[in-house]
Amino acid sequence: MAEAQTAIRMDIDALRGLVDHIRNNTTDTADAALIVPTTQYFCDERAARERELLRRVPLVVAHVSEVPEPGSFVTRDLLGLPLLIVGQRGGGVKVFRNMCRHRGGKVELEEKGKRPIFMCQYHGWSYAAADGGELKVVPYEETSGGIDKGCNSLIELPSEVRHGLVWTLLSEGEMPSIADFLGEEVDAQIQPWELDDSVVYMEHVMEMPINWKLVMDGAIDSLHAQFLHNKPGGVGARSVNHAMVFRDYGRHGKMIMARRRLKKIVDAGDEPEANSSYMASVMMLYPNSIFVEAPDHVELWSVWPHPTDAAQCTVRIRFMVRSGIMTPEIEDRINRSWEILRFAATEEDFPMEETIQRNAEAWPGGTYTYARNEKSAQHLHRQLFKDLDGGVSGPGTLIMR
Ligand code: FES
Ligand SMILES: [Fe+2]
Repeated sequence: MAEAQTAIRMDIDALRGLVDHIRNNTTDTADAALIVPTTQYFCDERAARERELLRRVPLVVAHVSEVPEPGSFVTRDLLGLPLLIVGQRGGGVKVFRNMCRHRGGKVELEEKGKRPIFMCQYHGWSYAAADGGELKVVPYEETSGGIDKGCNSLIELPSEVRHGLVWTLLSEGEMPSIADFLGEEVDAQIQPWELDDSVVYMEHVMEMPINWKLVMDGAIDSLHAQFLHNKPGGVGARSVNHAMVFRDYGRHGKMIMARRRLKKIVDAGDEPEANSSYMASVMMLYPNSIFVEAPDHVELWSVWPHPTDAAQCTVRIRFMVRSGIMTPEIEDRINRSWEILRFAATEEDFPMEETIQRNAEAWPGGTYTYARNEKSAQHLHRQLFKDLDGGVSGPGTLIMR
């Protein structure tokens, strides 16, 4: 148990900040409220620009434990781009377009597995799985007129493994190093989670009729748990609305919230000791990943805009568990955590977000408000505003108030 909890670092400053906020009924606040036009949740032109932006930044597409051996693979269609993610001989992972160099068939149709060769089912062109996707076999090569095998390997996309996560650029371009992309502070905060020594313990993928930003909003919202998740034993029973410390890491950000047990101690006039179980923290890695720290696991959300429809997204939630810590007791706790999360997300958050989506579509000239005391929920919108609108307010973009 003690060993299982070493992955959560005690953040004394955050604890002090939360205690002050509870005592004074305050929270970290943004400089201004944000007024977001409802069009941002359904406008196709906006959605196309967001997808274009996502293709220009490194995104988490897999975890190394999903491709543990040379030739192990997973396939994934992300932002409309079919990917083949493959463990390589001598270690490492490569990310390819799941596309035959002959006439573009997918070379792998299964979701996951292990193969020495990817053979396209159309005309049999075959590629070495664990050796860089090299083209090995072209049937009837003698009469083909000359196919240069050296120039027809599977097309590789820029990728890097860091913290056990496979990061990829979903376009051919220059990818920054992930250490640079994360920045020193975020990189240092991910380190203790030991994701490079973890496995995907469970994974759920859901197609949602919701704009991806609304799902991101819900995961990093600091004002809703006690209202929306108010069932006994649910998320709201453990958390405290309002008191929130927000860490701004440039494009990324972290929200730290008080748990109910901290509020009880503070309300009783006592001084809490340093204990990470008094806090809950959510790290948002721009633009579409969310990490929720828990004592026994890290919850990783990837929220993918639909390739063509602004009003749809795919949510992939994984529980990452450090190798070797699993005991029946921990397994039981993790399974209960999943059940609480599943209920909160699928029975409470997503249905609420669907109503927000439908209302946005039904009120195209309208606006939604992200108040000053919703600093964490503002963060993604502010960053998108910088990247997509150059920080210039106008019709269809944010208004600062
Ligand atoms: S399209 Fe793959 S072999 Fe022809
Ligand atoms: Fe929620």
